[in-house]
Amino acid sequence: MTLQTPREADVSRRHLLIAGAASVVASSASAQTEAQTPAAPVPAASDAPVLMKVTLKVNGAAHALHLDTRTTLLDALREHLHLTGTKKGCDHGQCGACTVMVDGRRINSCLTLAVMHEGDTVTTIEGLGTPEHLHPMQAAFVKHDGYQCGYCTPGQICSAVAVLDEIKHGIPSHVTGDLSAPVTFSEMEVRERMSGNICRCGAYPNIVAAITEVEGDKA
Ligand code: FES
Ligand code: FES
Repeated sequence: MTLQTPREADVSRRHLLIAGAASVVASSASAQTEAQTPAAPVPAASDAPVLMKVTLKVNGAAHALHLDTRTTLLDALREHLHLTGTKKGCDHGQCGACTVMVDGRRINSCLTLAVMHEGDTVTTIEGLGTPEHLHPMQAAFVKHDGYQCGYCTPGQICSAVAVLDEIKHGIPSHVTGDLSAPVTFSEMEVRERMSGNICRCGAYPNIVAAITEVEGDKA
């Protein structure tokens, strides 16, 4: 092994430092280049709709539809079956205007895909009653002025019918005091259970009055 003179050692050290600094500059330049280089394009998912056949039993009639799998039940009802009684309010599950009954239970039809309901029984406001033969809840809404503009009303009525059914079957709500006792009808239960149905016109007291009358008629 050859020993270096102090001067030779100093020169080597300088070379080493210069080489090190150069490599830092080079790697940071390469990092900058990478950051500035746009990422390789991610192949876009195909926008072509995927169609699927679905059969819905709506208001007593079976309908076979070929739908884009992204179609909500609300759009299937309104746009494909032209049952425009069910309203689109928020389209985000926040207003209840789109409430329908599926297999006897109320749901927000804007929050569910039609293809998830193969063979299901759907009841919309058109299936509850007719202008000549109103459902008792429809008649009570008319009698008690349970609406002003009427936009929320189909959803309110579907929900109200479901609420009485829930109470009748002993399904508790957030305000039910005693979960071991039978569920009883009260204004508080109605207000809580109807809280997912928003009325911009503020017809709430009249809606509660209508529901209370129908419950009283059943008793
Ligand atoms: Fe469905 Fe508002 S439209 S909850
Ligand atoms: Fe107008 Fe309810 S009656 S939003």
